[in-house]
Amino acid sequence: MTASKTDDRFPRSAKYDHTWMIENSMGPNAVWLVEYLSEAMDLKPGMKVLDLGCGKAMTSIFLAREFDVEVWASDLWIPADENRTRIEAAGLSDRIHAVHAEAHDLPYERNFFDAIASIDAYHYFGTDDLYLGYILQFLGKEGLIGIVSPGLKHDFDGDPPEHLHAGWHWDFASFHSPEWWRRHWERTGKVDVTTADWLEEGWQDWVFWNRALSEERGLDAEGETEMVKEDAGRNLGFARIVAQPRIPARWR
Ligand SMILES: C[S@@+](CC[C@H](N)C(=O)[O-])C[C@H]1O[C@@H](n2cnc3c(N)ncnc32)[C@H](O)[C@@H]1O
Repeated sequence: MTASKTDDRFPRSAKYDHTWMIENSMGPNAVWLVEYLSEAMDLKPGMKVLDLGCGKAMTSIFLAREFDVEVWASDLWIPADENRTRIEAAGLSDRIHAVHAEAHDLPYERNFFDAIASIDAYHYFGTDDLYLGYILQFLGKEGLIGIVSPGLKHDFDGDPPEHLHAGWHWDFASFHSPEWWRRHWERTGKVDVTTADWLEEGWQDWVFWNRALSEERGLDAEGETEMVKEDAGRNLGFARIVAQPRIPARWR
C-alpha cells in the first residue's frame, strides 16, 4: 500500500518514507496532519517550537526539516531516549530536543516559545477549561498555538448517532468540533482564534491509514476503521485550531 492518494494534498509529506511513517505511527498519519497544521501557522527559520505530545517525534522531525525551526519534542508515553535515537537517525540532533514531560508540569521558562504545535494529542488534556491558561505562559506575546486533533464536524448532545455505536469508545467524549474549540479557547479571553476548520477528506485519510497499519503492522483497529468508514465524513474527522495570544487578555 502506498500513500500516493495524499501526495497532491500533502506535497511535503510525500517526500517522507512510507515505512518510516508506518513504523512510528500512533494513530492517524501525524505527518499529514502536521503538514495541514503548518499551512495555518507562519513558521519561520530559527523559531522555537514546542511539539506537545509529539509521540515518536515524527512531527518534530517534519517541523525541523521543513521549516528550519528548533523543536522541543515533548511527550509522556514515549521515553525521550527513544525519540533521541530517532532524531539522531534523522540527522537533526542539533535542532530537536527530546524531553520526557507531562503536559501539566512542563519544564520550560515563561514566554520561551514562538509556537506551540500539538498533533493528535491536545484533546487528551486540553479540554480542561483552564489548560489553555496554563500552556500559554510558555508562549511569547507574538506566538501562535495550533492543534489538529480527531474530532466531530458538529458536536452532539447525549449519545453518538446510532451508526457509530459499534466502534465508539467512551474517551471519544474528548472529540469536538472546530466551533467547540473556538469557543473553548475564546471564552478564556486570552487568545484570538485565527483558524478553526475541518480537514476535508480527513475521514478518508483516517480509513486509508488505519488499513495500512493493519496490513503492514498487523494493528487491529477494525472497529474504529469500520466506524469511520460507515460514518463517511458525516461526524468524524480532524479539527484544526490556531490562535494567537490576546494582549492584553480580555479578563483579569
Ligand atoms: C495518539 S498519540 C499521538 C502522538 C503523536 N503526536 C502522533 O500523532 O504520532 C497521543 C500522544 O499524546 C501524549 N500525551 C497524552 N497525554 C499526555 C500528557 N498528559 N502529557 C504529555 N503528553 C501526553 C502521549 O504521550 C502520546 O504520545
